[in-house]
Amino acid sequence: MIELENVAYSYGGGELLSDISLELSSGSFHFLTGPSGAGKTTFLKLCYGALMPTAGQVRLFGGDVRDLGRDDIALMRRRIGVVHQDCQFLDHLPVADNVALPLMVSGYEGGEQAENLRELMSWVGLNARAGALPPELSGGERQRAALARAVIMSPDVVLADEPTGNIDWEMSQRLLQLLIELNRMGKTIMIATHDLNLIRAAKSQVQARVLRISQRQVQLAGADL
Ligand SMILES: Nc1ncnc2c1ncn2[C@@H]1O[C@H](COP(=O)(O)OP(=O)(O)O)[C@@H](O)[C@H]1O
Ligand SMILES: [Mg+2]
Repeated sequence: MIELENVAYSYGGGELLSDISLELSSGSFHFLTGPSGAGKTTFLKLCYGALMPTAGQVRLFGGDVRDLGRDDIALMRRRIGVVHQDCQFLDHLPVADNVALPLMVSGYEGGEQAENLRELMSWVGLNARAGALPPELSGGERQRAALARAVIMSPDVVLADEPTGNIDWEMSQRLLQLLIELNRMGKTIMIATHDLNLIRAAKSQVQARVLRISQRQVQLAGADL
């Protein structure tokens, strides 16, 4: 699905990430951990083609990101759903419209989509909040809306950047359950988080690999969590 070969990334100063080779295979569940500033968000951006590696090769669904044309990028946006760390919304549009935005942008219409949207809103527990505006949502509601928006195009892969960053433990658990459910449906999941308790909670339910960014490298963490 997503392959990195000898990948490095630098924002212009020294290398932030160096010589990373890794494969996220179909149906796998990964955590990505490491201290703030280690490069988790940067790594995820490399994984969905928002950043081009400064060295090495990133292949998405078999194709080198450097060779992707506009159509390929549009297709990839559909196949990789992203829950962004800051989960921004259009504040003047109701939550349901925000969630449906990727559908609108790609020109989908019709009753079937409306039904899918309702199902998705109820899956994340936001049916009652569908008409609310984003600034009226709690942190947990925002995160669930961001997750719904990330999966509305039925992506194969879901990348979530600190999805439980600003929410309480109970809500984190609920969000984690949704991501585990997606994985059971066959989706490839990667969650960037520095919450080791969340990782422990997941590990009892799903076979998850834990990657840690340390000294510019992405390493497989041991079982000592
Ligand atoms: N657009 C950017 N330009 C320059 N430096 C950046 C940019 N984005 C992030 N950085 C720097 O790269 C480092 C890693 O950032 P990031 O990937 O956001 O880490 P994390 O998500 O693990 O906290 C930080 O030192 C950050 O300041
Ligand atoms: Mg980050």
